[in-house]
Amino acid sequence: MKTYRLALIGFGNVGQGLAQILRDRGPELGERYGATFQIVAVCDFLQGSLYNPVGLDPAVLLAAVENDGHLRNIEAPQQGWDAEETISGSKADIIVEMSYTNLETGEPATSHVRWALQAGKHVATTNKGPIALHYAELADMARQNKVEIEAEGTVMSGTPAIHLGRDQLAGAGIKRIQGILNGTTNYILTQMEGGASYADALREAQVQGYAEADPTGDVEGIDAAGKVVILANLLMGESLTMADVKRTGITGITLEDVGAARAAGERWKLIGTIERKNGQIQASVQPVRLPLSHPLASVSGATNAITYATDLLGDVTLVGPGAGRIETGYAVVSDLLAIHRAKKQ
Ligand code: HSE
Repeated sequence: MKTYRLALIGFGNVGQGLAQILRDRGPELGERYGATFQIVAVCDFLQGSLYNPVGLDPAVLLAAVENDGHLRNIEAPQQGWDAEETISGSKADIIVEMSYTNLETGEPATSHVRWALQAGKHVATTNKGPIALHYAELADMARQNKVEIEAEGTVMSGTPAIHLGRDQLAGAGIKRIQGILNGTTNYILTQMEGGASYADALREAQVQGYAEADPTGDVEGIDAAGKVVILANLLMGESLTMADVKRTGITGITLEDVGAARAAGERWKLIGTIERKNGQIQASVQPVRLPLSHPLASVSGATNAITYATDLLGDVTLVGPGAGRIETGYAVVSDLLAIHRAKKQ
């Protein structure tokens, strides 16, 4: 049995989802895959910071958040470390970066990832900022330090869009990727088809917890554009930036537009596309009217979907959740297992 010590940077929804999975399924993961994942440090801007080299019980962490609203009442040899002290000072093998996403600067998450890699620690992150903005540099740093960097949770939460494209479709020749990559906007468009107003649908998406802290990133297509950049760079060997993605959000779509599409047997979807055409890469996020027969047209609510058009297999489509506490916590688990598999070889 191999034990990996984890330091969690960020203990919001995703961190708690991960702790819940480790609490409930840790023994099963050990038995089936020969790996134990032990939390030794948690550092959260709001809830406090703890380090215990012999381990922090995920059940105790979760109970503290539920009962006290923070972690500061838990006894631990080290309390109050900031993220840098946690990353470099803790004896963790894997840094799990789950702080808030910033698609303008990528900070503070990019610094967290750099510190981790420079200290020779593996990284699993659900944070789109560092991966969309700085992946080439970080992947290079990981190679130099002989550690892994995994980021399944950055696209479609735990639905394995990245591992499928990168590992299972390796060699199949991905020539186009097209997907519904943002749950909030797909939820809003679906609700509008049922007659809800844009404002009511957005409010409900916020209540359900799909939307980003500032939902502008969702409705203007910025979140989806970040995912387009990540997919292009990780799966198609490109080096796109956010500015390379032609982007239109859904704020201009009215109930009349939705009705007109319905009358024509079509449906509006916010579609992210990456395509190689005549040797040139084209990337976009825009609302598109799809015929009901299109595989992406029937994907409703907060569900996401992605179609890989490949040379050898034709189209391969994956449908699944794109957000959520357990769903994104599971993305980290799949990254931890990927790191375990890479290190076994
Ligand atoms: N706000 C995002 C969405 C969350 O609605 O898809 C997952 O990145």
